[in-house]
Amino acid sequence: YEAQLDLSDIEKGTYPYYMLKEIDEQPTVMRRIIQEYTDAIGDTMIDEKIVKKIIASDRIYVVACGTSYNAGWVGKALLEKMTNIPVEVHLSSEFGYNMPLLSEKPFFIFLSQSGETADSRQVLVQLNELGLPSLTLTNVAGSTLSREADYTLLLHAGPEIAVASTKAYTAQIAVLAVLAKAVGDSKKNQSSLKFDLAHELSVIAAVMETIIDEKMSISQLVEEYLSTTRNAFYIGRGVDYFVSMEASLKLKEISYIQAEGFAAGELKHGTIALIEEGTPVLGVITDRKTAAHTRGNLKEVESRGAHNFVISLGSLSKETDQLIIPDVHPLLTPLVSIIPTQLIAYFATLQRGYDVDKPRNLAKSVTVE
Ligand code: G6P
Repeated sequence: YEAQLDLSDIEKGTYPYYMLKEIDEQPTVMRRIIQEYTDAIGDTMIDEKIVKKIIASDRIYVVACGTSYNAGWVGKALLEKMTNIPVEVHLSSEFGYNMPLLSEKPFFIFLSQSGETADSRQVLVQLNELGLPSLTLTNVAGSTLSREADYTLLLHAGPEIAVASTKAYTAQIAVLAVLAKAVGDSKKNQSSLKFDLAHELSVIAAVMETIIDEKMSISQLVEEYLSTTRNAFYIGRGVDYFVSMEASLKLKEISYIQAEGFAAGELKHGTIALIEEGTPVLGVITDRKTAAHTRGNLKEVESRGAHNFVISLGSLSKETDQLIIPDVHPLLTPLVSIIPTQLIAYFATLQRGYDVDKPRNLAKSVTVE
């Protein structure tokens, strides 16, 4: 008998799964992004050439797949708020074959953890033929999408091994926030100039830690709400809707619970027909403008038998909410509201006895169209 040294087990350290390790690493990743992209006085450090190209554009197109696509929607909210440039978010697999009518001076941002996704690459190849400017945000230096785009910004998240993406999602949002601020500051936009991003991201890192420290109580809630269910819905409005899309993708891809994320207001226009006695509905509430409306939508489903689970921001919370997150800057709430949903997916999968890191039918990076 010869002892087998499994390198992957060494890298995992004491963690049972990479996914849990990668969830835990997110506060460190936030701090690393502050270090890499901001200077001692909190100013952003982004290549001036990228900033100039974006300022010269009349529209930003974000192109991505899967979790990166979901991060793109949060990026749209940040970029539009801070730069005043309209942003469209597209799925690579659609964009490549049904290209929308482009604006006169488009700028393209590719989001790709691996930098190797074939669906995204085929879009970039077409854009390069048209001579259009592009930037790739990726975790992998020297990856195909990085080499073939005009510019690259690295995520600095460290290798992500679990198929279900966690730290790359939050890193993408954080780097998009840095980019948005760099462009906004350069345009002297007030909302950007008065946004102390380096400080706000350090607050985010601390709040992420608080939530991660509570993981055992999240495990208990998952047992209570999701242990036997076939399906589940996440609902929210605005950025809370974008987080709901990612939260439900996370849940379905590893626990195999049929999960969907919906715009809370749209539920009543069809999907509410699926609510039965005991159906878990997870509401995400971090936006003051829409909190009351989402609560109204939660009432509607509750009266049809839904088992409601509310994730809310401290200042918007009610005592009866299941998970209350400390307040953070309103523009950055997805960076913290996503954390409990990653842990929910993790524990639901563990409790069902599936392999958290290697879900069936899925690959970490997909190199076919
Ligand atoms: C695969 C992975 C997803 C990922 C998507 C996009 O489908 O399973 O987790 O979000 O590819 O990957 P990328 O590397 O381009 O971000």
